[in-house]
Amino acid sequence: MTARSSNMTVPEFRRRKGGGKKLVVVTAYDALFTRIIEEAGIEAILVGDSLGVVVQGKKDTLSVTLEDMLYHTGLVAAAAQRALVIGDMPFLSYQVGVDEAVRNAGRLLQAGAAAVKLEGGRPVLPQVQAMTRFGIPVMGHLGMTPQSVHQFGGYKVQGKDKNQAEALLEDAKGLESAGAFAVVLEAVPADLARRVSLALSIPTIGIGAGPSCDGQVLVLYDLLGLFDQFVPKFVKPYAHLKADALQALRRFKEEVEQEKFPSDHESYQ
Ligand code: KIV
Repeated sequence: MTARSSNMTVPEFRRRKGGGKKLVVVTAYDALFTRIIEEAGIEAILVGDSLGVVVQGKKDTLSVTLEDMLYHTGLVAAAAQRALVIGDMPFLSYQVGVDEAVRNAGRLLQAGAAAVKLEGGRPVLPQVQAMTRFGIPVMGHLGMTPQSVHQFGGYKVQGKDKNQAEALLEDAKGLESAGAFAVVLEAVPADLARRVSLALSIPTIGIGAGPSCDGQVLVLYDLLGLFDQFVPKFVKPYAHLKADALQALRRFKEEVEQEKFPSDHESYQ
């Protein structure tokens, strides 16, 4: 028997701000892992555009398309029974204009997401405002926003100097005022994440943002120890599935070559 938790909704997620029990979010891109994540009792799943790196093997997330996100969001949403499914808006699906952003966010909801996530602060507030006005819940994302990797000159901690920190705080407040129901803070100093978390009445979800956020998110393949091409300091591998997979595959190869597999046990008589 697995512990069944009740359905997570956007209002419930928002109500958990500062409520003692931290919010837990994990990324997923397919049905199989969605079922495992729910069986573990995790209540929110982000279909992240990180799939560009961990699933598609690209060096960054910039080439992920809306069609890619619709496909993977559909897979996750079809399998999810209780978790809140958040679909990530890929590069160029929301930056160009408000109308296009609303239409693309709506398509993610039609694919099965209950909410969308987008990157950036003050420049995207008109988009956030319009989406929430039309009933599309939005999660913000500040700090080391991967779609701006070239602007940052690499995957670097953001908000280290005073001006940057104040700007990030203003962006976070702007997102809340525009109607966002939560904000992801990625790769920012723990002190700044704490200040932002205290200043907002919506949950902050940290990834490389220290322990004071209202919740934490990790990329699934990082936390399972499957993806080892680039492991940021903030990743803690809770398993070593790449090592297990390698061992299993090597054993299979060896047993086939040594004619130990299949044995009678795996053969029809
Ligand atoms: O795309 C993603 O997986 C994300 C998380 C790292 C927050 O944006």
